[in-house]
Amino acid sequence: MKSFSVMLAASLASLPSLSRAQSSSSCGPAPSGSIQPSLASGFSYQVVATGLSKPRGILLDGAGNLLVVESGRGVVSAHTLNEQNGCVTVGTSSDVTANMSLNHGIALSSDGKTLYASSPESVYSWSYDGAAKNVSKEETIVANMTTDDHTTRTLLLSQKAPGLLVVTRGSTANIDFDAASLSSGHSQVKAFNLQNRTNVYDFDSDGLRLGWGLRNDVGVAEHPGSGGIYTVENSADQLTRMGVDVHENNPAEELNFLGYLNGTSYAGQGGNFGYPWCFSAWNVSELPNNGNLSVGSQFAIDASSDSDNQNRTDAYCAQQEAARLVFQAHMAPLDIKFNNSGTEAWITFHGSWDRTDPVGYKMSVVSFKQDGEPVDSSTSLTAARDVFANEDNSKCPDGCFRPVGMAIDPQGRIYVSSDASGEVYLISKASGASIPTASSTSSGTATATASTSASASATSKGAANIISAPKSSGFGVLAGLLPLLAWML
Ligand SMILES: *[C@@H]1O[C@H](CO)[C@@H](O)[C@H](O)[C@H]1NC(C)=O
Ligand SMILES: *[C@@H]1O[C@H](CO)[C@@H](O)[C@H](O)[C@H]1NC(C)=O
Ligand SMILES: *[C@@H]1O[C@H](CO)[C@@H](O)[C@H](O)[C@H]1NC(C)=O
Ligand SMILES: *[C@@H]1O[C@H](CO)[C@@H](O)[C@H](O)[C@H]1NC(C)=O
Ligand SMILES: *[C@@H]1O[C@H](CO)[C@@H](O)[C@H](O)[C@H]1NC(C)=O
Ligand SMILES: *[C@@H]1O[C@H](CO)[C@@H](O)[C@H](O)[C@H]1NC(C)=O
Ligand SMILES: *[C@@H]1O[C@H](CO)[C@@H](O)[C@H](O)[C@H]1NC(C)=O
Ligand SMILES: *[C@@H]1O[C@H](CO)[C@@H](O)[C@H](O)[C@H]1NC(C)=O
Ligand SMILES: *[C@@H]1O[C@H](CO)[C@@H](O)[C@H](O)[C@H]1NC(C)=O
Repeated sequence: MKSFSVMLAASLASLPSLSRAQSSSSCGPAPSGSIQPSLASGFSYQVVATGLSKPRGILLDGAGNLLVVESGRGVVSAHTLNEQNGCVTVGTSSDVTANMSLNHGIALSSDGKTLYASSPESVYSWSYDGAAKNVSKEETIVANMTTDDHTTRTLLLSQKAPGLLVVTRGSTANIDFDAASLSSGHSQVKAFNLQNRTNVYDFDSDGLRLGWGLRNDVGVAEHPGSGGIYTVENSADQLTRMGVDVHENNPAEELNFLGYLNGTSYAGQGGNFGYPWCFSAWNVSELPNNGNLSVGSQFAIDASSDSDNQNRTDAYCAQQEAARLVFQAHMAPLDIKFNNSGTEAWITFHGSWDRTDPVGYKMSVVSFKQDGEPVDSSTSLTAARDVFANEDNSKCPDGCFRPVGMAIDPQGRIYVSSDASGEVYLISKASGASIPTASSTSSGTATATASTSASASATSKGAANIISAPKSSGFGVLAGLLPLLAWML
């Protein structure tokens, strides 16, 4: 690590470029309530839409309309967008579907003429008219998915294997023992063939299984180069191991690789990722009996009379499919989208509840190689670099945006829905600016800002853990710069 004085000099030098995020005052409404976004250097935001009813999945149709699953009303709505001097506003809004309890998934065929959306029970399709923004010819594609918990069914239409629709389905509980049985259909990701379909597919018994033992992989994306399918997983809460409560910083959230859809073989395709018995390590030092564990290793949890886990051990867990990358515990990743070149994977983190200091509540970026592999290693603690965050996570969840779905427009700008605040934001990168690198951000701390206000220093708790600078006299006066220093690490 660089010496403290070098870091301090570097951070002071870059002070002007890090500031509390401001949307251009003339552009769009203010964030709702007391929400205070903060942004990585070179990025800006504006609010595009407000007053939506728990917006989840979003996309841009071929006519440039923003389609939104408003889960609070069970509908897909369409919003025309107008742009003037780089400022995007909503023109007219209308409902595309009736209330069909649609709550998350949405996809559009590449010709723009078939719309798909999901409820907890079913995946539907319609003929879609982008000019009229209405639908006809409703069909049920996949059914029999209703469960008590984790009711989102994310949809992805493959570009590399046209006609395959990927559907993700989570567990019915934090630890769902049914997920250990393949026939339950719980905690699985499957692909369904739209081209030769004769009946309504039953999720449990039909489809090509891409993976199982995947607790709740809400986000799914296909790498535009390799065609590899990646998911982001929400891992478990309240875990104990060997009688020790390890939930604060374990288990890690995950980026998983599920193989290809176009026929390229991959030995792990359809494989078991370990849930409900195995979880990925984030903070190894807080796990008892950690001699064989590193960041990203799968570890076993306590057997209990409830779970009858048949004494599955770390050795068993090491045999299951492991995550490609891990993220800080409890951040709740909900969407992943690759940019056109496949060098960036954008991930939304909805935010934690099972942790003393809230984490997540932000949109981050992970670097990929064009061949479809992440740049960082599976043991990295800094793979996700924060771009769009809340200034003060101590105000979360109530005073924060909670990002869910993303849509990248042809200019590379990113629309982000926030269900809790009923908003859609638009995040833009200044031309010439670049995404943050590992050395300029810290994983797991709130995004840094130059503000020295009391609220900003509340975000520095995580930073204090990461910076090993002495807390000697003189350091105290720099406390307001801690978030800034975290940014520099
Ligand atoms: C949408 O439909 C569901 C199921 O019928 C119903 O429970 C819910 O109240 C409806 N929502 C609205 C906003 O009407
Ligand atoms: C969609 O709108 C067009 C144009 O207004 C109309 O002709 C068509 O009947 C509508 N379709 C449905 C299903 O409402
Ligand atoms: C549809 O095609 C897939 C292979 O792409 C095949 O496995 C499946 O059996 C076919 N289903 C029907 C109903 O023909
Ligand atoms: C749903 O499950 C029920 C009971 O298992 C079965 O009778 C029915 O055919 C299934 N529906 C579909 C669409 O597969
Ligand atoms: C699948 O797509 C990838 C990327 O376009 C290509 O390299 C590979 O050859 C394809 N595999 C098959 C079996 O067509
Ligand atoms: C891991 O836990 C130790 C001990 O509680 C703590 O000092 C450290 O900051 C934690 N690191 C991470 C990355 O959570
Ligand atoms: C680590 O693995 C080795 C080989 O399987 C085993 O002998 C040893 O007991 C393990 N150590 C711990 C701390 O689990
Ligand atoms: C698990 O281990 C306990 C204690 O060694 C033993 O009593 C029990 O039979 C084992 N259960 C299974 C399913 O192997
Ligand atoms: C994706 O990649 C292209 C080319 O490398 C880059 O210019 C662009 O800014 C990236 N990001 C997005 C969100 O499109």
